[in-house]
Amino acid sequence: MGTKFTQVFIRTAGLYQLDVPTCLSFCYKIRLVFVPLSKVQGFPMNSLKITFKLIVAAAVANAFQGTSGSHQWVAPTASDLRSPCPGLNTLANHGYLPRNGRNISVPMLLDAALEGFNVGADAIIQAAKVGLLSGDAPTTLDLNALALHNLVEHDVSLSRGDLFVTGDNLHFNETIFSTLANSNPGKDYYDTTSMAGVMDARLAISLATNPQITNTPKEINVRIRESSFVLSVMGNLTSGVAPKEFV
Ligand code: HEM
Repeated sequence: MGTKFTQVFIRTAGLYQLDVPTCLSFCYKIRLVFVPLSKVQGFPMNSLKITFKLIVAAAVANAFQGTSGSHQWVAPTASDLRSPCPGLNTLANHGYLPRNGRNISVPMLLDAALEGFNVGADAIIQAAKVGLLSGDAPTTLDLNALALHNLVEHDVSLSRGDLFVTGDNLHFNETIFSTLANSNPGKDYYDTTSMAGVMDARLAISLATNPQITNTPKEINVRIRESSFVLSVMGNLTSGVAPKEFV
């Protein structure tokens, strides 16, 4: 790789916060356009470069609208409803789901997961449909109703207490979450090995403290899916490695 290309690569990655594979393919494509044009006598390369930078900046700003615009993060108000699911709460806090957390249909859940997390219907349709049984409305749900114990909500969570032990299976519980937060010490990421250790540790705590624990294959299956969500949605789908700062 030439020095010029390396410089452009490093500058582009830094400027637009792109990961290495994305940035590499991006820089190669740009090179395919820029190099031939630069050989055309009198071609206005400078104005092309400025136009190009403006287009990329607009695209990056669009991709990061999670921090501004209609998908800006806004804390829920006292009357907004939230669930025991950190994924759905995040989608509501960013306005991919109604910010009030009410009257949410299955298609709304599927669209929000796709738009907000790039998670397809196949991964969540089961939970979304079962979730409808949490309330009386025939085709919609309210987020807080999802705390209904042993429907989708279960014991041995990563971030919520067991209902029988704490009386609160809805809100984030820092003590419970510390098992995950303190895992994989010395590394700045979580991976499948560390997550399996966390799942084991959380189960041991619930078995020791919750005489009413429900731990059937159904709950085990749901917990595995949710732990996989942490690693894949907040990290890399293929390697299962998620930076700690994103979780
Ligand atoms: C892309 C979409 C989703 C993501 C990324 C996501 C992620 C997660 C994660 C990581 C947990 C584990 C929390 C913990 O153990 O403390 C969880 C729990 C939960 N999720 Fe989701 N989820 C998604 C979609 C859904 C859907 C569609 C439903 C149902 C309508 C749902 C309902 C729940 C419930 C009720 C819990 C609480 C389980 C418990 O810990 O007791 N989630 N979700």
